[in-house]
Amino acid sequence: MTQDYTILRLGHHGDGIADGPIYAPRTLPGEVVTGVLEGDRLSDIRIKSPSSERVKAPCDHYKSCGGCQLQHASDEFVARWKMDVVRAALAAQHIEAILRPIQTSPVRSRRRAVLSARRTKKGALTGFHGRSSGTIVEISDCHVLDPGLTNALPVAEAMAELGGSRKAELSVTLTLSEVGLDVAVRGGKALDGPLELALAQETERHGLARLTWNDEIIAMRQAPAQHLGPDLVVPPPGAFLQATKHGEQALTQAVMEISKGAKKIADLFAGCGTFSFPLAHLAEVHAVEGDAAMTRALDQGWRMSIGLKKISTEVRDLFRRPLMADELKQFDTVVLDPPRAGAIAQIAEVAVSKCPVVAYVSCNPISFARDAKKLCAAGYTLEWIQVVDQFRWSSHIELVAGFTLRR
Ligand SMILES: C[S@@+](CC[C@H](N)C(=O)[O-])C[C@H]1O[C@@H](n2cnc3c(N)ncnc32)[C@H](O)[C@@H]1O
Repeated sequence: MTQDYTILRLGHHGDGIADGPIYAPRTLPGEVVTGVLEGDRLSDIRIKSPSSERVKAPCDHYKSCGGCQLQHASDEFVARWKMDVVRAALAAQHIEAILRPIQTSPVRSRRRAVLSARRTKKGALTGFHGRSSGTIVEISDCHVLDPGLTNALPVAEAMAELGGSRKAELSVTLTLSEVGLDVAVRGGKALDGPLELALAQETERHGLARLTWNDEIIAMRQAPAQHLGPDLVVPPPGAFLQATKHGEQALTQAVMEISKGAKKIADLFAGCGTFSFPLAHLAEVHAVEGDAAMTRALDQGWRMSIGLKKISTEVRDLFRRPLMADELKQFDTVVLDPPRAGAIAQIAEVAVSKCPVVAYVSCNPISFARDAKKLCAAGYTLEWIQVVDQFRWSSHIELVAGFTLRR
């Protein structure tokens, strides 16, 4: 007789969890399921009693593609679940906070995607990795990507046909820019004369703005600029950019609200200046970032802009060499947007600095809550949190939190 499992909750990766814990991907709380138990995971899952939150996944590739984890759940459920993940992370650190309603990016709005591509006997295969597997699932359509990226799938295929091998996989980063597609390929064959020529021809054929091969620029028909507010920046190939325009605007709006009235702002983990540019309409900004190519792009963007207050830049590893409390004393607001690990060393210095206002942008509620606890213990009040979902149907969550120092 097959055993029934009742799903109790979702884990951080969006998998259902039954007593054990036993993980059951693509199930929902309250559902009774059966399946084949391998270790602590169920496969060949059958839903015996579906949740009222279960919906038909909009995408035909959902069964096999690993790109999305939550298309089987209603939008309302996903929104509630993401808010609850933030609440639970805060509760684990004994923090209470006001959460503003989540802002979710529209379908088909992702402007940047990293695809996998491989040369095959017949041509090439392009898509995302399958669920818990290293194999590429070919996609012909995607409900997450902006149509400008879906239409560019043949570009990734062409790259694999020209410079991929049957053994190794290419990673193809496609980014929509103001003037066309910015394509950065990694893992391709070493460049030689004929390959370079063929790639340059592909750039023309597909009207690409820029093509980069293993970090070498092959062709740039037009500088692939991005608007950050009204200002323009040309990010280095493959550089970080907020995943959707909607997400960028939601995060920026919250950062701007927290920073209102500031005169001198430190923007830490600044990237190419997503927040530095809008902030420089308000106040002087010192932008600190670990990647020199990004600070160069930021600086060039600032030099080309009109009417902005000063933005100075600094290349610095903020994990090893955080801005010290003494250095932070000159700023009345600190904005920080660290990677998933959070900013343990930097937050320790912010806490000592007593900088009056902190805007913390995070892509990981757990590391955020850990850092928030440190700030609260140092006398800061967590005023509110804006939760942002720009990775629709995935388990990723982003947020902006505003802290003020108690007097
Ligand atoms: C989440 S991104 C945010 C970038 C920018 N604020 C934005 O919104 O576009 C995190 C940034 O931190 C930078 N970074 C990662 N580790 C770092 C470190 N140890 N020191 C300084 N910057 C780092 C990355 O290069 C990246 O630009």
